[in-house]
Amino acid sequence: MPLWSIAGGNELNGSLAVQGSKNAVLPILAASLLGGGVTRLRGCPTLRDVDASMEILRHLGCSVMQNRGEILLDSEKMCENHIPHTLMLKMRSSVMFLGAILARCGEVRLSAPGGCELGARPIDLHLKALEALGAQVRQSGGEICCSAAQLKGTHINLDFPSVGATENVMLAACAAEGETILTNAAREPEIEDLQTFLNAKGACVHGAGTPEIRISGFAAKPFTEHTVLPDRIAAATYLCAAAAAGGDVRLTHVRPAHLAGITDALRQMGCSVVLEQDGIRLRRFEPLHAGPPVVTKPYPGFPTDAQALVMAASLRAAGTSVFVENIFESRFRHVPELRRLGADIRVEGRVAMVSGVSALQGAPMCATDLRGGAAMVLAGLCAEGESTVSDSGHIERGYDDFDGCLRQLGADVQRCETAPAME
Ligand code: EPZ
Repeated sequence: MPLWSIAGGNELNGSLAVQGSKNAVLPILAASLLGGGVTRLRGCPTLRDVDASMEILRHLGCSVMQNRGEILLDSEKMCENHIPHTLMLKMRSSVMFLGAILARCGEVRLSAPGGCELGARPIDLHLKALEALGAQVRQSGGEICCSAAQLKGTHINLDFPSVGATENVMLAACAAEGETILTNAAREPEIEDLQTFLNAKGACVHGAGTPEIRISGFAAKPFTEHTVLPDRIAAATYLCAAAAAGGDVRLTHVRPAHLAGITDALRQMGCSVVLEQDGIRLRRFEPLHAGPPVVTKPYPGFPTDAQALVMAASLRAAGTSVFVENIFESRFRHVPELRRLGADIRVEGRVAMVSGVSALQGAPMCATDLRGGAAMVLAGLCAEGESTVSDSGHIERGYDDFDGCLRQLGADVQRCETAPAME
């Protein structure tokens, strides 16, 4: 099991190219099943979740290989439409294979996905949408079976702009007869990247990034190439690291427009943030102060994935920083761990109030989920002495060379492997 050790006190300085997007590459890997053929993806991050997706693709009969940032896969010889529980539970994104396999094979069997424990994380919106397209959905003993002799285009309105449900509809509707109109769709940039990939593969998808997406038909292409979007949440992570530790950091390979909520929040806390052509420069030399409340919303609102990250930067900010978590019902699990450093945080339901303290003392912490674990490492950067974060693998699900990136900016962070905890 990874153990992250952080010696606090170093300022961060220098330049870092941000990894490719986890939440873009994962649905695109599932989409590579549509119509068979060969897919070449560039700009892919090396992550445990990408490994898990490639393992599922191989289980389904595809040939897949990753060489540094490039993934080459051939889904022509897909021969399986069932994903075993052991593969499904490794991440949330395994649910993307529901729509992809249904579109390719007409029938799919899998169990509920895994992923960060941020609350119940049901998939009712996914299943309701697939039924609207004409799929029969049966659930028994934790297994889900979807089948359809022929999916039929229709109008689907999502009760909530779910990212995953939006993506599953886009995948399944590629095999539907006639046009599908999806309203109240999620608008995240990763959905636009999926649309770009699907259209390169022979689909006809329009409207991603707006609340209404139209999908009509699919004429498979034998070979598809795509370069994956930069990871806006990884970028947010390194900006929050610089805000927490102080210093002067420039990020490249980033789309500044995708981070508006985060750069606004950090600017209002006292950071200097300059947006460049394909980069962002953040400087912080004066103590931070509380900014306006951080209220998480569906994109383009403030992203829930950055809530813990900005909270880590706010622990020593003068005044009281308020965080309202509207997306997940249990996304403050990092708070008790941050308190071990001496942070002063009160939680009442969906609201967390951080009263800035003058100093934090290094302490041992335990990663609770992907972004919460990253936030603990960031908090260790501005604590006196050594902190550690024990981790059952959460952080490396979403960050490519996390310790290497932080060290490149001057942080004293080491990753070492420890024996699994005794049961
Ligand atoms: C995606 O998860 C991201 N994961 C999450 O990032 C991100 O936090 C989330 O979108 C919101 O932006 C990937 O893209 C792989 P949702 P997803 O469906 O699709 C409820 C990270 O750290 N809901 O938009 O699972 C759900 O419980 C991860 O990179 C239903 O009720 O999120 C939640 O409260 C964490 N029924 C809300 O909607 C459903 O059928 C948003 O979920 C589906 C969702």
